[in-house]
Amino acid sequence: MASLVPLLSLSLATLTSALTIAEVNGPSFLSPLKGETITNLTGIVTAKGPDGLWLRSPTPDKDVRTSDSVYVFNRNFATNLTVGDVIVIGGKVEEYRSNKDYLYLTEITSPVLQQKKESGKTVKPLVIGKDTIDPPREQFSKLDGGDVFAVPNNKTLVSVANPELEPKKYGLDFWESLTGELVTVKKPTAIAKPNQFGDTWVIGNWKVNGENKRGGLTMTDGDANPEAIIIGSPLDGTKNPTNTKLGDEVEEITGIVTYAFGFYRILPQTALKVTKSEKPVLPSATKLTSKGKCSGITYGAYNVENLAPTSSHLPDIASHIVNYLKSPDLIFLQEVQDNNGPVNDDVVSANLTLTTLAQAIKTAGGADYTFTEIAPTDDQDGGQPGGNIRVAYLYKPSLIRLYKPNPGSALDANEVQAGPSLKFNPGRIDPTNAAWKASRKPLVAQWEVIGEKAKGQGKFFTVNVHFGSKGGSSSIQGDARPPVNGGVDDRLAQATLTAEFIKSILDQDSNAHVITAGDFNEFAFVEPLKQYAAISTLLDIDAVVKIKETERYTYLFDMNAQQLDHMYISKSLAKKAEYEHIHINTWVEFAAQISDHDPSVARLDVCS
Ligand SMILES: *[C@@H]1O[C@H](CO)[C@@H](O)[C@H](O)[C@H]1NC(C)=O
Ligand SMILES: *[C@@H]1O[C@H](CO)[C@@H](O)[C@H](O)[C@H]1NC(C)=O
Ligand SMILES: *[C@@H]1O[C@H](CO)[C@@H](O)[C@H](O)[C@H]1NC(C)=O
Ligand SMILES: *[C@@H]1O[C@H](CO)[C@@H](O)[C@H](O)[C@H]1NC(C)=O
Repeated sequence: MASLVPLLSLSLATLTSALTIAEVNGPSFLSPLKGETITNLTGIVTAKGPDGLWLRSPTPDKDVRTSDSVYVFNRNFATNLTVGDVIVIGGKVEEYRSNKDYLYLTEITSPVLQQKKESGKTVKPLVIGKDTIDPPREQFSKLDGGDVFAVPNNKTLVSVANPELEPKKYGLDFWESLTGELVTVKKPTAIAKPNQFGDTWVIGNWKVNGENKRGGLTMTDGDANPEAIIIGSPLDGTKNPTNTKLGDEVEEITGIVTYAFGFYRILPQTALKVTKSEKPVLPSATKLTSKGKCSGITYGAYNVENLAPTSSHLPDIASHIVNYLKSPDLIFLQEVQDNNGPVNDDVVSANLTLTTLAQAIKTAGGADYTFTEIAPTDDQDGGQPGGNIRVAYLYKPSLIRLYKPNPGSALDANEVQAGPSLKFNPGRIDPTNAAWKASRKPLVAQWEVIGEKAKGQGKFFTVNVHFGSKGGSSSIQGDARPPVNGGVDDRLAQATLTAEFIKSILDQDSNAHVITAGDFNEFAFVEPLKQYAAISTLLDIDAVVKIKETERYTYLFDMNAQQLDHMYISKSLAKKAEYEHIHINTWVEFAAQISDHDPSVARLDVCS
């Protein structure tokens, strides 16, 4: 019987001692008290915002899973309260999200002030990585099964599984365990461009994975950088700058951890201030210039972002091609619009767009180019309505030409014939296949280097791709786990069709030169491109030339520098391959970027 006494006194203590903020939050994503009305909750006011205030427990527990702070939602409740006040409140525990695909935030609504106990208490922020553990650097959630890019997506929901937090292992769990908390980020670096509201992804002076030379974080296989955090709207009503650049150093940030618009974020006490920017402002031009013969043909690849003849960015694209890409012999272009751009009529040809671009290149001091394209069927290839975006080639007619040209129409399916050669040169791959619904069909061409044909040298195939977009993706910090990778099934089908076509060239001649480039809208380590490489037997040129994984990026999205634009080459081209990404758009501020993608340049020996 004696042993019952301590048990009895413990349960009595639990019954009589007041509720703590840690108990409101609980050790999982959702509050164990969700929907309940509570009283006698004591907290110190740590910050005030436009719609409420944040309270921190005067008696924090030692459990790393349970946040000791909470948001109290009510616009007027804070009127007579100031930071440092110790108050006792009642209210209702609620889980709030503004969209069904987001995570819930635990908050106290309809607050009633029961007592103001004290004021003038000092409020010290927790320094992330010092007063807290470091944010996890690889995984977002246990529910991702070890790979945030795993297919199939959306196997489970955080809001349903409600796992117990493991803040040491998982990024979502880490930030969740700090929601409502006042924190400091020491030595912050901006790792992406802000959105129109000035929301800016940063890392602090904690350990990170995937840091690139510019100061950003590059996504790598299985690692999409959960250690980064967005800095949202300042609590004092000031506005964050919208011209912050990749790698900018920012003044120390103190603010409240919360979740809104699909992401954990810190609401800073006041606006971000950039203290130092990376130098040089612009990258160097490519070192890969043409040798003017088969031993060194240069290939550019550039998603020119909805380029029409009247686009204000057309001269800048031309200038990039001349000054940064050094007029490659052949350019794989994506997002070339028809002759009247987004005007939604039946115009589909882009000959004026491409002639205008070639002329602008010449005006900017570049090479003489001509072009080849196949106009799509009106409104069938996705993208901006009316624009009829397509892939196209610009090339130097003085150096290369189509081998036995025989252009296909929009609906002609190209075939590999004896030689190997192409039935349609250029021609589209299986254009009526359902895999290409509302997407661009790849453009295959066979080329020869002029003057070297006699020796049977200098022939090569190209495949220019722009796979379906990631539209419809869910937030990487959203409810669906693994997150929804929008269009992944389409891209898998598209990658498979394209790879099988390429395989049929290499089945005939394993030494054929095949170069495929463009905007694959996917990462090399995700299922569509894993299959693409496996089926086609092509090699990822980034890996061939051993570009460091952290320098493989052409695009900025969320917290990640990432690679959507790739080049894959056949084995016969690997030995002397050279390749560079030119970060002309990712490095500059938003207003100065000409396209949302960086271009790349390769130099290849196509002689043998
Ligand atoms: C709240 O605190 C008051 C004052 O200490 C106490 O009288 C009351 O019983 C408490 N209520 C609950 C529900 O714990
Ligand atoms: C703030 O204090 C004023 C003056 O005492 C009072 O009239 C008002 O109701 C209080 N507001 C709130 C939200 O408690
Ligand atoms: C574009 O093609 C049409 C039809 O072949 C032709 O009439 C027109 O002159 C061409 N425009 C340019 C700029 O090449
Ligand atoms: C994920 O799946 C659930 C059904 O389990 C569905 O309700 C939800 O809309 C899906 N989320 C997304 C982002 O597609």
